[in-house]
Amino acid sequence: DLPTRVRIHEVGARDGLQNEKATVPTEVKAEFIRRLADAGLTTIEATSFVHPKWVPQLADAEALFPMVGDLPVSLPVLVPNERGLDRALALGARRVAVFASATESFAKANLNRTVDEALAMFEPVVSRAKSEDVHVRGYLSMCFGDPWEGAVPIPQVVKVCTSLLDMGCDELSLGDTIGVATPGHVVALLAALDEAGVPVSALGVHFHDTYGQALANTLAALQQGVTTVDASAGGLGGCPYAKSATGNLATEDLVWMLRGLGIDTGIDLGRLVATSAWMATHLGRPSPSRTVRALSHE
Ligand code: HMG
Ligand code: MG
Repeated sequence: DLPTRVRIHEVGARDGLQNEKATVPTEVKAEFIRRLADAGLTTIEATSFVHPKWVPQLADAEALFPMVGDLPVSLPVLVPNERGLDRALALGARRVAVFASATESFAKANLNRTVDEALAMFEPVVSRAKSEDVHVRGYLSMCFGDPWEGAVPIPQVVKVCTSLLDMGCDELSLGDTIGVATPGHVVALLAALDEAGVPVSALGVHFHDTYGQALANTLAALQQGVTTVDASAGGLGGCPYAKSATGNLATEDLVWMLRGLGIDTGIDLGRLVATSAWMATHLGRPSPSRTVRALSHE
């Protein structure tokens, strides 16, 4: 059975732009987010309040967030620690995301911490956010494979998911950071989480499309009851701290599939495609999304 409605968590402005070589001016980012909202996206991850040396592409978070803060959409932002939370709350952010790792190698590369040290860093972030009634998403990277460690054992993933939920995260996003997952693996992880008592309503999926499996993996997740899907407009993105990570599932490709399945998203595909085609001109490279290419008229 498939859900009747899917919520798309748009990550192009964050996961997408954090890994683009071109530096995108803050005004262009603001315009990008405005156009995404105009196309009907309701959850648009805006930026990250991380160390500017770690992710220089998002070093303009303080300037950008107030430029889009008045939009009638949810604008989650990434915060790795209390310093990041302070910065986000000071600007009025109402949704934040912490980002954990299922593997030690990526925890070290991305957060300069062990898995447990990273969880300890998130604990005061989550409890403070919850005390201010701020919604908290917990990302979990490397849920399927890790570039240094290979296939990631499912119990290891379940353990960190449980820690994030016990800490108070409102929802989790299961990340296939390097895009190696296949549908059978997705079903196996979701079954293990179900067995561990994790409600599927608390889960989102976050597929990168490195091996062209993102859409197939998404369909498998929908069949297991997942209704929150992360995607990036035009398929922008990757992760600067994980080699071989390419862009996320393209939002357009997702919308095309959902539309064909009769699943409501409220998104105007034409406006979305036009937005990604416009962004591609700023990035100096064509969108890798097949749907964007098929529907763009140059
Ligand atoms: P660290 O070097 O261990 O930091 O980095 P620290 O805690 O030792 O602090 C060092 C200095 O950084 C201090 O300054 C802090 O104030 C400053 P100093 O006293 O030396 O002048 N600092 C900060 N400045 C601004 N904002 C902050 C902040 N925190 C500390 N928030 C840290 C630890 C977590 C900060 C660093 O590793 C970091 O910023 N990492 C972010 C990496 C990142 O953003 N990666 C991409 C997002 S994750 C992703 O893309 C995966 C995802 O898409 C899902 C998937 O696909 O799997 C979500
Ligand atoms: Mg990602």
